Order: sequence, then structure tokens, then C-alpha cells
Amino acid sequence: MKIAILPGDGIGHEIVAEAVKVLNALNLPLEMNWADVGGTAYEKHGHPLPEATLELAKSSDAILFGAVGDWKYDVLERHLRPEQAILGLRKALGLYANFRPAICYKELVNASSLKPELIAGLDILLIRELTGDIYFGTPRGRRTAEDGHFPGTEEAFDTMRYSRPEIERIAHTAFQAAQKRGKRLTSVDKNNVLETSQLWKDVMVEVAQQYPDVALDHMLVDNAAMQLVKAPKKFDVVVTGNMFGDILSDEAAMLTGSIGMLPSASLNDRNQGLYEPSHGSAPDIAGKGIANPLATILSAAMMLRFSLNQPEAADRIEAAVQKVLEQGLRTADILSEGTTKVSTVEMGDAVVAAL
Ligand code: NAI
Ligand code: MG
Repeated sequence: MKIAILPGDGIGHEIVAEAVKVLNALNLPLEMNWADVGGTAYEKHGHPLPEATLELAKSSDAILFGAVGDWKYDVLERHLRPEQAILGLRKALGLYANFRPAICYKELVNASSLKPELIAGLDILLIRELTGDIYFGTPRGRRTAEDGHFPGTEEAFDTMRYSRPEIERIAHTAFQAAQKRGKRLTSVDKNNVLETSQLWKDVMVEVAQQYPDVALDHMLVDNAAMQLVKAPKKFDVVVTGNMFGDILSDEAAMLTGSIGMLPSASLNDRNQGLYEPSHGSAPDIAGKGIANPLATILSAAMMLRFSLNQPEAADRIEAAVQKVLEQGLRTADILSEGTTKVSTVEMGDAVVAAL
């Protein structure tokens, strides 16, 4: 079982080190290989996704990824910015299906800014299409407008694009995930305005024929954003496109208490996967030893389950996380009255001890 370890930038190093510590404690035959990615790779090799890193990722069964990015790279040309590394990996490996389970542990209901009764017992799954949509669509660029509201002035444009096969495969992923859970799927789009969303909805309805046991409903993205904070427990599985999913999944993260709790898996059709916390490199707290490593540790558990076929090891990690929360240990982002504040490293150590 070959794993590429790509810590990246900012808190990436701190949180990935804790996940690796937990993986090592499992005594599984895991071959781990480290590589640079993001701003760290740009500094050392002149590119955020060096060829060697990409090759390592391609030849591994799974990738454990920290996070990339720092505001200081905003001055670089777009193709050299750290964020291009994660987009490049998704594209090169065909990682089109992004799973973000948002679970609110009962111990954390008071860590969220939302009312406890709203989120207690929350367990929803957000599935985001990850390789299409406006983030990858061409043409894109800047030009002098020939038409539009202000002809003769500078404009910028991106293209929102989805093909039928792209929507079909994420639809199958979502219906199959719903079959394994509460058998309810909500497809989120903006079909009242967007052509891509109309195709998205049409394909969802067609694919639904093959899954008569799953109840499909549709919601416009603006309403979905509202319902997620109004009545999040009404959802079971949510499937949506790349951009809407980006935004809704950060919103869903807050339902779990902290973005530091939300793991993610990005899979291709060979079950090769990239596993990363849903948050970014958090430059504001990097190097302080206070980042929450649990999203990354839980991502490692998803890696064992989805790409490495080690479901028992995944269960052990998840049970250990549950246990440290029961023990009252909290990093700063999830601290509440009556709990004990611990550092990133102490949290990792506690998870290992709880294994
Ligand atoms: P962010 O997720 O890095 O941080 C947002 C806020 O959440 C910050 O206040 C941060 O301190 C806090 N936070 C994040 N993770 C935490 C953790 N584990 N424990 C405790 N607190 C945590 O998002 P932001 O600030 O918008 O972006 C920072 C950089 O990260 C940017 O360069 C951005 O492009 C990049 N980014 C990278 C991603 C990736 O590598 N997949 C995803 C999202 C952002
Ligand atoms: Mg995001």
C-alpha cells in the first residue's frame, strides 16, 4: 500500500505530521513517500506541482494532502500559484468525486456558533463534482469587451461547462452513496438561470430511473445555502457541481463545530484517492502549534476505508477521535467551557493513545 504524503504549506506540515503519527501507530504495511507541493514546492523547484510530485502521486494508491497556499503568493502568475497544485492533481488523476461527510459529534454541539438543537446528531454527506464547471472551463481570460454593458473596456471571463458524461458519473456516485445511507439525495443547482444547471437536473432525473430505491429531490443553490443553516438535519446526501459545492461545503463545515473537523476524499473511478482536510493552509495560525489535526486524521481514516481497503483500521481511528473528544480534549478552534485546551501535537498524541 503506497501512500504519497504531500504536506504543502502553512499548517499543512503540522497537521499531516499528526495524521502520519496515527497511521504509523496502526502497524500496517504502509509505504509512505514524501514530496513537496504548493508554495513550498515553488520555493524549492520553481513550480507548485513539480513533475516528481505528480509522478509520485500517480504511482501511489492514495495521497494524503495537507493544504496549499499563502497570501504572499498572490503576486505570482496564476499558473505558478500554490492552489494550482491541488487543481492540477485533481485534473491529472481524474479525481472527480469529492466526499465531505459533515458529522457533528455530540461533544462539539457547544463549539459551533449555531444552536445546539439544530446540529446535535447531524450526519450528512456532501458530494461535490471536482473536475468540471467554471474552475476548469475554457475559454477564460481578459480582453477588451466588444459588446456587453461597457463596450471598449477591459473585462474578464470564465466559462461554466458541464458535459453529459461528467454529470452522469457523479450522479451514479451520489445515488450509490445514498443507497448505502438514508436513501435520500438532494441535487443542488441553479437551473432557473443556468444552462449547465438545466442539463445537470435533466441528467439527475434520468439517472434516478436506475435507482428507484433512492428519493431524489432538487434544490436551488441559494435555497440550499439557507436550508443548510436553517434545518441541516433534513438533508441526507447532497450532490452538486464544483463551484456550488466549494461554497456549500465550507458552510457545512461550520455545522460540525469547526472547519478543523471536516475531512474529505476525492476519488477517481479506480478508487485511487486524494485525502485532505476541507480547510486551507490557515496562514494566520501556521507555526503556532494550535491547528486542529482531526480533519486530517479523519481524512486518513477515509483513505484506509476507500483506497486501501482497511475498513477496520478506519473504524479504529474514528473511534479514537470520538474517545479523545469524550475525554474533553480540544484544540483552540473547538474549545468550550469545561474542556481542556491541547496543542496540535498533544491532540495527535491523544489519538494515538486512544487507539
Ligand atoms: P483556511 O481554511 O485556510 O482558513 C480559514 C479560517 O479557518 C482561518 O481563520 C484559519 O485559522 C481557520 N482554520 C483552518 N483550518 C484550521 C484548523 N485545522 N484548525 C484551526 N483553525 C483552522 O482558508 P483561507 O484563510 O481562506 O485560505 C488560506 C489559504 O489556504 C489560501 O491561500 C487558500 O487559497 C488556501 N486554501 C487551500 C485549500 C487546499 O489546499 N485544498 C483549500 C482552501 C483554501
Ligand atoms: Mg473551499
